[in-house]
Amino acid sequence: MNRLDGKVALISGAARGIGAETARLMVEAGARVMIGDILDERGRETARAIGGRDAAAVFNHLDVTGEEDWSGTISAAVARWGGLDILVNNAGMFLGKGIEEASLDEWHRLHAVNLTGVFLDTKLAAPALRERGQTSPHGSAIVNLASVAGLVGSQLDPLYSMTKGGVTLFTKSAALEFARKGHRIRVNSIHPGVIQTDMGC
Ligand SMILES: NC(=O)c1ccc[n+]([C@@H]2O[C@H](COP(=O)([O-])OP(=O)(O)OC[C@H]3O[C@@H](n4cnc5c(N)ncnc54)[C@H](O)[C@@H]3O)[C@@H](O)[C@H]2O)c1
Repeated sequence: MNRLDGKVALISGAARGIGAETARLMVEAGARVMIGDILDERGRETARAIGGRDAAAVFNHLDVTGEEDWSGTISAAVARWGGLDILVNNAGMFLGKGIEEASLDEWHRLHAVNLTGVFLDTKLAAPALRERGQTSPHGSAIVNLASVAGLVGSQLDPLYSMTKGGVTLFTKSAALEFARKGHRIRVNSIHPGVIQTDMGC
């Protein structure tokens, strides 16, 4: 018996990096994993590599800034495996610019990926997570990738810190809202320091 036997997970931004490694570990622990990303070719490769012969990981195109993409990816996971137990909001981007160097367009893009993406997924996945949460002894789970830059000040990219600080408090507040409503959806955030990935932060 593995820890995640019978569980269905959806991980955004899992074509590479922390998301891909999370997907690999979840499959190893017995879960079925839907990988969503804008990198179609890389995402399919990752799913093939970790999914094995019984296709325990599958790729679906997902731009986290779009409502339709989220609905389609959540529906694809539910249709394939019968429900959704775990959602990992991992997709994110780093700008690496100072306040005076960053343009308004760059801020809008950063905000859309790092914040709007987390809001949309939490909103649109909540019904499926709530349904599974009612029958599971530990409820269902949302895990948000924040950052140490969402806990303490960082000189590298204050705009990135602003988005990750938002993810940190949204996580706590979403957990409280769902608990008050009896949804049985746990919400937690992870705050890595610098990890060497293609993101370059
Ligand atoms: N690497 C670090 O040092 C570090 C530290 C703290 C937090 N984090 C956070 O961890 C998460 C994963 O980062 P990573 O280091 O693996 O970076 P990464 O760049 O390797 O992976 C990010 C993934 O998100 C995807 N993505 C970007 N925009 C997207 C969009 N609009 N829709 C769907 N997918 C999109 C990318 O294609 C990529 O596959 C991010 O949220 C990041 O902020 C990373």
